[in-house]
Amino acid sequence: MSKTILITGASSGLGEEMARQFAARGHDLALCARRTDRLEKVRAEILAARPYARVEIRALDVNDHDQVFEVFKAFAADLGSLDRVVINAGLGKGAPLGTGRFDANRDTAMTNFVAALAQTEAALEIFRAQDSGHLVMISSMSAMRGMPKTVTTYAATKAGVAHLAEGVRADLMGTPIKVSVIYPGYIRSEMNEKVKDAPFIVSTEKGVAAIVEAIEKEKPRAHVPSWPWVPVGYALKHLPLRLARRLMG
Ligand SMILES: NC(=O)c1ccc[n+]([C@@H]2O[C@H](COP(=O)([O-])OP(=O)(O)OC[C@H]3O[C@@H](n4cnc5c(N)ncnc54)[C@H](OP(=O)(O)O)[C@@H]3O)[C@@H](O)[C@H]2O)c1
Repeated sequence: MSKTILITGASSGLGEEMARQFAARGHDLALCARRTDRLEKVRAEILAARPYARVEIRALDVNDHDQVFEVFKAFAADLGSLDRVVINAGLGKGAPLGTGRFDANRDTAMTNFVAALAQTEAALEIFRAQDSGHLVMISSMSAMRGMPKTVTTYAATKAGVAHLAEGVRADLMGTPIKVSVIYPGYIRSEMNEKVKDAPFIVSTEKGVAAIVEAIEKEKPRAHVPSWPWVPVGYALKHLPLRLARRLMG
């Protein structure tokens, strides 16, 4: 059945490809990000393939929290309701702690955690009023353990959002509101375009196909693609830290 799906961070990478793949499945979309020229391009591409699709776009900086609530409400009004919200906007900046780059680590913490909290609040206000909806949190395999070097803050934010979403799931269990946490492994996108040897990296299309499949099944938790990330996730959780720290490259 066709759904209305809001995706944040839809101007590149995973968000942009999710928009394409959800549209190909017949869903209507609400797409937001700061780069609206990129959103216009995605919309034009989708409408060229499916002229009757509904694709709304709005500018949103997720660190402007008032704007998060305004834009989510406006999308709900545009589309009549929101069946699913994918909290995807994210930042991969970072440096080892104590090396003078609090600015980079703070930007990542604010965008990936505090702004995700704002998006979760805004989505759930709408879902509670509708008494329905599917909240999807894009976490990361790096959430499995504390991570070294430039990824320390990023991994902590991704563990934080996964717990946030699981807490919401615990709170709303037995209601029509569903929650999924997606843990992607390395998938090619702008975020890692300069990283040459990310382990097990897959193309954007392949990685996002696995994400979309898991989301459509409304899985509470999904490591994607499942091979090799289900076993790698298990290893990350259980290996001694001196070995786990090497697994994510
Ligand atoms: N690629 C991977 O291997 C991987 C693995 C695990 C998890 N993830 C997660 O997947 C999500 C998408 O990342 P990606 O890999 O697709 O990276 P990407 O290509 O860099 O895309 C990031 C998206 O987030 C948006 N964004 C960043 N800051 C924002 C802000 N302040 N306000 C609004 N939008 C903002 C960007 O849009 P604008 O710049 O236009 O605003 C862009 O659309 C992230 O949460 C990331 O942590 C990615």
